[in-house]
Amino acid sequence: MTYLLFKKLKFNKPILTHIVVDTQTKNAKNKNTMDAKEISLNEKEVKPVVDMLNDYLANYHIHYQKLRGCHWNVKGQNFFTLHIKFEELYTNAQLTIDEIAERVLTLGKPPHSRFSDYIKESKIKEVNTIGMADMTMVETIIDDMSKLIELERDLLEATDKAGDDGSNDMVNRFMQFKEKTTWMLRSFLGKK
Ligand SMILES: [Fe+2]
Repeated sequence: MTYLLFKKLKFNKPILTHIVVDTQTKNAKNKNTMDAKEISLNEKEVKPVVDMLNDYLANYHIHYQKLRGCHWNVKGQNFFTLHIKFEELYTNAQLTIDEIAERVLTLGKPPHSRFSDYIKESKIKEVNTIGMADMTMVETIIDDMSKLIELERDLLEATDKAGDDGSNDMVNRFMQFKEKTTWMLRSFLGKK
C-alpha cells in the first residue's frame, strides 16, 4: 500500500515525500515493538519477562477452567465446603489472570487471548472433572499450584535480572497466596 507522508528536513521545513510501505512488514514490526523504555525499562532485558508472563497467563487459564470444572462437578459429603472453596479460588484466579494480561500490555506486548494458544503453551494440562473424586480434585489443584509456583520462582529471577520491580512484586503476591492456599488444601486432605 502507498502512503503519502510529510518528512521533516534538517532545516525543519516539511516536504511531501512519497514512500512505499509494505503493510505486512509494518504490522509485523508494530506487533513486536516494545514500549518498555517509556517506563524506564530496557526493552531487550524485559523481553524474556514478557514471554514468560505470557506462558504464565496460559497456565493460569487452564488452571482457572479446571477450578470451574471442580466447582461444577464436585460431589459427596464435602460438596458444600468444596463447591464454595473452588468458587473462591476461581474468582481469585480470574482477577490474577486479568492482572497478568494487563502487565503484559503495560510492558508493551499483547497478551495471549486464544484458548488454542493457552492449550499449546501451558505446562498445566486440562483434565476431565466429571466423575472425579472430591479428594482427587483437591490433589489436582495442589499440583497445579505447585507448577504455578515453579513458574513464579523463575519469573522472580527473570524480573529481578531485568530490574522489573513491578512484575516482581505482582508475581510475588500471587505466589504467596498459593503458598498459603497449598498449606490449607493439604491440611484439608490431612497431609503435613
Ligand atoms: Fe457457581
